[in-house]
Amino acid sequence: MSTGRLSGRVAVVTGGGQGIGRGIALRYAEEGAKIAVADINIDNAKAVSDEITAAGGTAIAVVNDVASRQSVNDAAQRIASELGPIEILVANAGVTRPAMLWKMTDQQWSDVMDTHLNGSFYWLQAVVDGMRAGKWGRVIFTTSAAGIQGTIGQINYSVAKSGLLGMTRSAARELAGDNIIVNAVAPAAATPMTEKIRTEERFSTKYLAEIPLHRWAEPDEIAGAYVFLASEEVSYMTGQVLSVDGGRVMMR
Ligand SMILES: NC(=O)c1ccc[n+]([C@@H]2O[C@H](COP(=O)([O-])OP(=O)(O)OC[C@H]3O[C@@H](n4cnc5c(N)ncnc54)[C@H](O)[C@@H]3O)[C@@H](O)[C@H]2O)c1
Repeated sequence: MSTGRLSGRVAVVTGGGQGIGRGIALRYAEEGAKIAVADINIDNAKAVSDEITAAGGTAIAVVNDVASRQSVNDAAQRIASELGPIEILVANAGVTRPAMLWKMTDQQWSDVMDTHLNGSFYWLQAVVDGMRAGKWGRVIFTTSAAGIQGTIGQINYSVAKSGLLGMTRSAARELAGDNIIVNAVAPAAATPMTEKIRTEERFSTKYLAEIPLHRWAEPDEIAGAYVFLASEEVSYMTGQVLSVDGGRVMMR
């Protein structure tokens, strides 16, 4: 595992314990990166890091609540001391708290803001000094079709994911001079997060009809975009959003 497009790079994948984050962590390891699998669910994070090390890669599992600045700073410090300065940040951890806007509670609103928006910003700040010092960095935020074109029943999620577009573009501008490339992915995949809309008839038919490729992706099919955005190949692309969603979003 010493060769590959991410050979020797230190990467943290938040929410790496399952779903898309797990797919990214496994693929990054195949590409030679040293991985910190960070998740609020430490058992899942440990299972992923064990899978990587069993295959000959380098990985650690780190318990982390992205919604807590202290937890993020502690995790970042531990990763830097065990693996080295963080060079690639994948801000992927996420939750949904669906409700129509007229019924949404403050808790549902703030859970989603705290995880997606605050969590991504805490991690960005936690890694930025090290990346600036090393004059190399890759930051990949995780947005969504919901953040690009809105959605029904998840205004909190849509607002948070739209906010991440602003975070991507502003961070890309501020950090370009330090050779830190910042982009976002808007994925869609079969994960625990999408189980309900994939399996309940009242949602599933409509969702599938909106996807030109007419199927859900496995997380591994999303991971390639994250490898590209973390690699040297992305040296002249920053502040962009890649939709990896079967063609669902084609314009914005
Ligand atoms: N699956 C999709 O179709 C889809 C579509 C658009 C965007 N996304 C985004 O992709 C990302 C990954 O989604 P997924 O489908 O793999 O979801 P998932 O629910 O399968 O996995 C999310 C992971 O994040 C972790 N997590 C949740 N809260 C956390 C916290 N406070 N601190 C640390 N970790 C936490 C969970 O434990 C879990 O391992 C999310 O940001 C999601 O919004 C997913």
